[in-house]
Amino acid sequence: MQSDLSFRSPSEDDLDAITDLESVSFPSAWKREFFESEVNAAGRYNLVVEEPRGALVAYLFTMYYLDEMHVNKIAVDEDWKRFGIASTLMKKCFEFARANNLLTVSLEVRESNEAARALYGRLGFAEVYVRQRYYADGEAAVVMSCTVADASRTWDVGRET
Ligand SMILES: CC(C)(COP(=O)(O)OP(=O)(O)OC[C@H]1O[C@@H](n2cnc3c(N)ncnc32)[C@H](O)[C@@H]1OP(=O)(O)O)[C@@H](O)C(=O)NCCC(=O)NCCS
Repeated sequence: MQSDLSFRSPSEDDLDAITDLESVSFPSAWKREFFESEVNAAGRYNLVVEEPRGALVAYLFTMYYLDEMHVNKIAVDEDWKRFGIASTLMKKCFEFARANNLLTVSLEVRESNEAARALYGRLGFAEVYVRQRYYADGEAAVVMSCTVADASRTWDVGRET
């Protein structure tokens, strides 16, 4: 299944499809302009995933600064969930982090987002603390973090065979 998918950097041509997936994936969706500035910004590692006919089925937006990487957005189309696409995107994120000598990858996740918390927990992220009223609707965020070295040990990220 995943061998039929292509992973590449997003361009401005992808913004409509990204915004459409964003609007059905998040209660407080990012606006198109946010993604536009992320696509063009420095210090970013962003990916989109296309199925064979060219439709966008997932995306990942991250930023990095000094020794830390932060996951801003990850989403997978409903019809493509539970095929390991988010796991592959996160693995690529850690490969990039390792290749660029970054030490940790962190993110915030809504307290109620059981799917994402399960995903990150399975990938080796630890729940560091709860940031109260982080989201506009008042929901708390769980701050999660994973060291690149730990991820490398767990999933062989970036290791030579
Ligand atoms: C969270 C999300 C990105 C996961 O994408 P995905 O491609 O389906 O995830 P994967 O297939 O890589 O899942 C890997 C593991 O995560 C866990 N997981 C993923 N979705 C889950 C769910 N709905 N319920 C419970 N566990 C889940 C499982 O352990 C899964 O392994 P399994 O399928 O072998 O049981 C996707 O559900 C999504 O787009 N959600 C809406 C946007 C969002 O919440 N993004 C995260 C913001 S922090």
